[in-house]
Amino acid sequence: MTQNTVDSPAITQPTETHQDNRLLIQFALAATTILLCVILVIWGIHRVQVSDPYVHDVLASTGNLERGQQLFWQNCATCHGVNGTGEVGPDLQSVSERKSQVALIKQVISGKTPPMPQFQPNTQDMADLLVFLETL
Ligand code: HEC
Repeated sequence: MTQNTVDSPAITQPTETHQDNRLLIQFALAATTILLCVILVIWGIHRVQVSDPYVHDVLASTGNLERGQQLFWQNCATCHGVNGTGEVGPDLQSVSERKSQVALIKQVISGKTPPMPQFQPNTQDMADLLVFLETL
């Protein structure tokens, strides 16, 4: 057997750019996986929230704007102002751009942010209120 002194051909060795590319692809795959997981978790949380029977019923009801406005005037205007521009409670202008429908419902029924009281509107009243809040 004669000794092979020739270096092994370079094509079998990954060049540096090949390695760079592989790293980049691995990174992209990892990033995509993480992104998908995050989306899945957010979607899951949303599903769980919407599957809450109360929230589900509110979202399934068609709200009446006029009733919603009356309910707001009776229950909320002392703190949030007749036009929702805020008194003791914060300004509610464009609140529906800041908070999702589910978050708005939770805000009204949770009572977790005193001094705002915990309200227990029936689902139709809540749907009416929601429509009104979305016009602010
Ligand atoms: C006793 C006063 C009071 C009443 C009555 C009241 N709120 Fe509030 N509300 C507050 C206060 C104070 C906050 C701020 C709570 C916090 O985030 O710490 C708030 C926060 C909110 C928010 C969230 C605002 C934001 O920018 O995130 C919404 C939406 C809201 N109220 C809706 C209502 C609705 C609808 C009613 C009537 C059903 C109502 N509130 C009645 C005092 C009140």
